[in-house]
Amino acid sequence: MPVATSIKESLRSSSLIRKMFEEGNRLKKLYGAENVFDFSLGNPDVEPPPAFHAVFLKCAQEDPKGSHSYMQNAGYPAVREALACKAGREHNVTLDADHIIMSVGAAGGLNVVFKSILNPGDEIIVSRPYFVEYRSYVENHGGTLVPVDTLPDFNLDVQAIQSRLSPKTAGVLINSPHNPTGRVYPAATLAALADCLCNHGKQCGRYPYLIADEPYREIVYNGVVPPVLAVYDESIVINSYSKNLSLPGERIGYIAVSPTIADKETVVNALIHSTRVLGFTNAPALMQRIVAELTEARVDTSVYARRLAAFKKVLDAAGIEYAQPDGAFYLFCKAPDADDKAFVERLKQNLILGVPGTGFGSPGWVRFAYCVDETIIEHSKNAFLKTMGK
Ligand SMILES: Cc1ncc(COP(=O)(O)O)c(C=O)c1O
Repeated sequence: MPVATSIKESLRSSSLIRKMFEEGNRLKKLYGAENVFDFSLGNPDVEPPPAFHAVFLKCAQEDPKGSHSYMQNAGYPAVREALACKAGREHNVTLDADHIIMSVGAAGGLNVVFKSILNPGDEIIVSRPYFVEYRSYVENHGGTLVPVDTLPDFNLDVQAIQSRLSPKTAGVLINSPHNPTGRVYPAATLAALADCLCNHGKQCGRYPYLIADEPYREIVYNGVVPPVLAVYDESIVINSYSKNLSLPGERIGYIAVSPTIADKETVVNALIHSTRVLGFTNAPALMQRIVAELTEARVDTSVYARRLAAFKKVLDAAGIEYAQPDGAFYLFCKAPDADDKAFVERLKQNLILGVPGTGFGSPGWVRFAYCVDETIIEHSKNAFLKTMGK
């Protein structure tokens, strides 16, 4: 079949996460689902909050005339106004509907942003480890992903970022709470990064965008995620309801731009235009109406907190080291002998599935997603002990 060479190449190196997911399905068929400890996929199994179902039924029943028509590519103005208030509160700025563009999840939002800002050869700096799809999203639009290391505790290494800034830098992409480490970047780190980007902009005449991917903003275990839009003028936030409200199949999210971004009208028009020409046209209509009424709703993060505690107990007993997560639902663990692929194979022999850190640009580590029932975590203990020779 005549598919593009670049796609053939991507298919060959296709996501390790998906591969593990398929492997999980194979093993479940062979050994029974209850005997496989599948921690491979970040697919939230915690149900959306009860308010979602009530609002969903109400919106479906109301079904006002025209509610299935095309709309402004940015989304319904009233929905954007509601989300502007929410995002403004979270980011300590005053936003209105004109700062919000509804998106098809965070993935759609990120593609819209990169389509809008990248010229051929432009670079996006990201800290390693990083969400595996970022490279494709950047390369989709002619950009180059430039990974830099983090500090040993997985906080951003602002100096490392600074050392890779150049006139080609279109943006610095951050993700907090972070997939796969669960790290939340402290306010002081964000302030230092903002300073660094400001200084670079002053010197070279091009201020990189600070692009914050926040699909886990509401899944935190202590406190809140510090604001981004308030700390740097040229910032753009991407949020989504895939994890925050457990609605990944509904493909709904939004982009929020800083009220002080330079040439705001052009940037916003570019984002709206990209939404259209990428073929999204607009974010799903019914879901827009629903999330506008759920600005106060949250998934029950106490479920994730309990699973985290249970998982830590299992890892501690097995002697596996991990990064302490502040949020999201992943544990990033050190592979014995720093060989993540060998460790994943050994785990698989005991029917445990995790994703090698190599898939996130960080060999030597393995990610476990705890989007599974607590009992599965508890029952995995013997398999972990066996893997570790205990
Ligand atoms: C860090 C990160 N960004 C973006 C996405 C894509 O999210 P969405 O389902 O909202 O497109 C994910 C999904 O797992 C993610 O982990």
